[in-house]
Amino acid sequence: MTVTVRAPAKINLHLGVGPGREDGYHQLATVYQAIGLYDDVTATDAGDWGVTVTVSGEIDGSQVPLDDDNIAIRAGRALAEHHGVDRCAHLAIAKSIPVAGGLAGGSADAAAALVALDRLWDLQTSDADLLALAGRLGSDVPFALLGGTAYGTGRGELVEPVADNGQWWWVVVPEGQGLSTAAVYAEYDRLGLGQTLRAPDGLFEALAEAYPEVLASELHNDLEPASLDLRPELARTKREILECGAYAALLSGSGPTWLGLAGDADHARVVAAALADTHPVVLCAPGPVAGAHVVTYA
Ligand code: C5P
Repeated sequence: MTVTVRAPAKINLHLGVGPGREDGYHQLATVYQAIGLYDDVTATDAGDWGVTVTVSGEIDGSQVPLDDDNIAIRAGRALAEHHGVDRCAHLAIAKSIPVAGGLAGGSADAAAALVALDRLWDLQTSDADLLALAGRLGSDVPFALLGGTAYGTGRGELVEPVADNGQWWWVVVPEGQGLSTAAVYAEYDRLGLGQTLRAPDGLFEALAEAYPEVLASELHNDLEPASLDLRPELARTKREILECGAYAALLSGSGPTWLGLAGDADHARVVAAALADTHPVVLCAPGPVAGAHVVTYA
């Protein structure tokens, strides 16, 4: 039997970053949104743990580990251990989410592996246990299970759904070379930017009102100065997105992927076509979309 689970990329509509914590992480006040770019993970029973990765389009998958370091394998082992089952699986990952782009593609793979193996082995893991396992694997993994639009606190692993009446469209502009999340947070510390966190009330109102022009003025990412410091040429992409007519340009998580906010699908396509002159890969994606969900059970 095989089970295929699809999990979405995430973006951060608001990323408020507090000072560093004793455990090396940073306190966050963030608003996640799941967008329509996905990785699929297909789980099949096997004698030992194994992973294969195939990529779509222009995505560079060469940095994705193909051994026990792969976060999907770590997720599978953690789930088996949690239930005390002595079983292994092969995980085939089909990636459409750009790697190391600030879109949480690895977290999507971990969330998809958890759900796929839970179904494959009929483990009936409770939602609370699945979220707790996910939180131990990475700060963004619980959100990849939940999907939609959600407020994230703690180091990002504590998630609760947020009212979102919009059908938003994003123009996604990945960069060829990824950025290390840990390096961006370290640069944030070096610049001394950590500050007291506040809930983004204006953003919550904009999501409920659902006007793109209003949402545009509420998008915010505290990590942007740190990412730009490490990769100054990213400033040009931001300018181009605005010149091509997007309502706002937002860095996705720790970057380097940029997002342009469009008014609707047609507007997104127009902005994307204009950006395609200078960027080899430009994608359009709606949000919010569902979290990790089964697509094939055979
Ligand atoms: O949780 P995850 O493994 O995705 O985090 C990757 C790295 O990003 C961490 O090792 C840490 O350096 C940084 N990070 C952080 N504060 C957070 C989330 C991530 O400093 N809230």
